[in-house]
Amino acid sequence: MIDSPIGVFDSGIGGLSILQSLQHALPAEHFVYWADSGHAPYGEKTDLFVRQRSLAITQHLIDTHHIKALVVACNTATAAAIHVLREQYPQLILVGVEPALKPALKISETGHIGVIGTRGTLGSDKFQRLLMSVQSPTNIANPTLDSKPSSTRFTVQPCNGLALAIEESTHADSAEACQQRIADLLRTYTQAMGTFGKEAGQIDTLVLGCTHYVFAEPALRSLLGPDVHLVSTGDPVARHTRRLLEAASLLRRGPAPHALSARMQLMTNGDLAGLQAAAARWLGLPHAACQRSDFQV
Ligand code: DGL
Repeated sequence: MIDSPIGVFDSGIGGLSILQSLQHALPAEHFVYWADSGHAPYGEKTDLFVRQRSLAITQHLIDTHHIKALVVACNTATAAAIHVLREQYPQLILVGVEPALKPALKISETGHIGVIGTRGTLGSDKFQRLLMSVQSPTNIANPTLDSKPSSTRFTVQPCNGLALAIEESTHADSAEACQQRIADLLRTYTQAMGTFGKEAGQIDTLVLGCTHYVFAEPALRSLLGPDVHLVSTGDPVARHTRRLLEAASLLRRGPAPHALSARMQLMTNGDLAGLQAAAARWLGLPHAACQRSDFQV
């Protein structure tokens, strides 16, 4: 079991941003990544649909790859399905991702935090509960936040179309048009949120509540300038996964046994060339690490 791979899935390429952190934090592990690109984007589908996809992919990764742990590298799938996955697979080590509101609270100096994500994530009960928990008086009175403003404000903005534009930007023939679309969408959505900066009242911290958005960081930087904090979840998720594996005595230790490409198997039921381009760009992987799976989970 200790030599089994860790399963990771997302609606498409977004989860590669989590896989980047996982492979740094867990250099001796093998990974199998499932990009459900044939069904992307999840963020504008129903909860029921995302839940069914999540269950089917998990079962497939267990049956075919005998995974020892699963990282749901998608905020939307975590919001819609993590509770059902926990019920269905009580023995499996399961890690989800959620918008990093707590880390944002620690670094914001103006106390005004922006959150962008999919409609599915930001409209979910799970996210509403998270928002309420960080806005509760006990949190605001947290002694570690003594020097912070006495009240914290969150401005939440769903970004319809953005994950899809990022997904499609991996296709060589439409890359330039997609970059333009990404920049236009980001401008529209960030303008709707208010002003960004370090002055009182301005948003100084932006939480990227969708794993795809990490790949739009350069575009966000050029829009918002160098001072705004952009907060994502890859590193804390990787550290948490490591802790859970350690606690279950399932952590593979030591230096990497093989080259990165031999530790990674990436699959898609969508466009193979798109996944290959993204994996090469963000993880430095050769095209041979990616395969098209015709298995219809
Ligand atoms: N990358 C996913 C997330 O973190 C899903 C994006 C989508 O498919 O809409 O929410």
